[in-house]
Amino acid sequence: MFLLTMGDCVPLTKEFTKGVCINMEKKQLLYTGKAKKVYTTDDPNLCIFEYKDDATAFNGLKKGSFEGKGEINNQMANFIFRLLEKDGIKTHLVEELSKRETLVKKCKIIPLEVIVRNVAAGSFSKRFGVKEGTPLKNPTLEFSYKDDDLGDPMINTSQALAIGLATKEEIDQIAEMAFKVNESLKKIFLNIGIKIIDFKIEVGKTADGEIVLADEISPDTCRLWDAETNKKLDKDRFRFDLGEFSDVYFEVWGRLNEYYAK
Ligand code: TMP
Ligand code: ASP
Repeated sequence: MFLLTMGDCVPLTKEFTKGVCINMEKKQLLYTGKAKKVYTTDDPNLCIFEYKDDATAFNGLKKGSFEGKGEINNQMANFIFRLLEKDGIKTHLVEELSKRETLVKKCKIIPLEVIVRNVAAGSFSKRFGVKEGTPLKNPTLEFSYKDDDLGDPMINTSQALAIGLATKEEIDQIAEMAFKVNESLKKIFLNIGIKIIDFKIEVGKTADGEIVLADEISPDTCRLWDAETNKKLDKDRFRFDLGEFSDVYFEVWGRLNEYYAK
């Protein structure tokens, strides 16, 4: 990381954190994902995320976008990560550089999509024949193997260990983190009148071997229902053409800001 004096900073990518100015520029494009691009920086241990306005569903088969989605998801994910850090959850987040760019610790992403559910919906309802909206007697944890060519198949712990996706210790740590994130998210969202039905997280390993929460948490990666009306305030509005796709993202971001940014 470049640590410069305040006078050395140039506008746009400058941020002042506890008197330290972080000045980072995007270098090489490392990876283009469905919703963001990842760039290298001069520091081999840091990357820059640039969020796109794109939305995809069903493994990229359905495509859409709305103006401002990248800015909302970037700011919302960072905002939520900071709240999770207050609850003791370690994340990759270093600094928000602009509305759609964020400096993060470079991680080796463990190729598991980690899904926690509180209420039956989506593929859980379909797979087990449980009516959408049925509260679950306990939060559930499931893993998918993060591989687009295979369609992200569901995988259990012994299968993940058998093909070497992670070690037993890492999986135990991931499971503990996932339930902890769930407890924090339930609280964070309930304060703004939203129930968290389920969500997906990704976990990475930093250069010094620390397991951290990575990627993003946003209405793209969660099912969020209004606590009173059960109105869907997430990407299901895009997945299933329910309308008001952009409105609900602005709604969730607005509620978070109103409650927490006071
Ligand atoms: P599912 O019910 O379709 O398995 O989705 C469970 C949760 O994971 C839901 O909150 C949406 C999120 N999710 C992603 O973030 N990315 C994905 O590719 C999929 C399939 C689901
Ligand atoms: N993000 C996934 C995709 O585009 C699927 C989803 O979120 O429904 O393929």
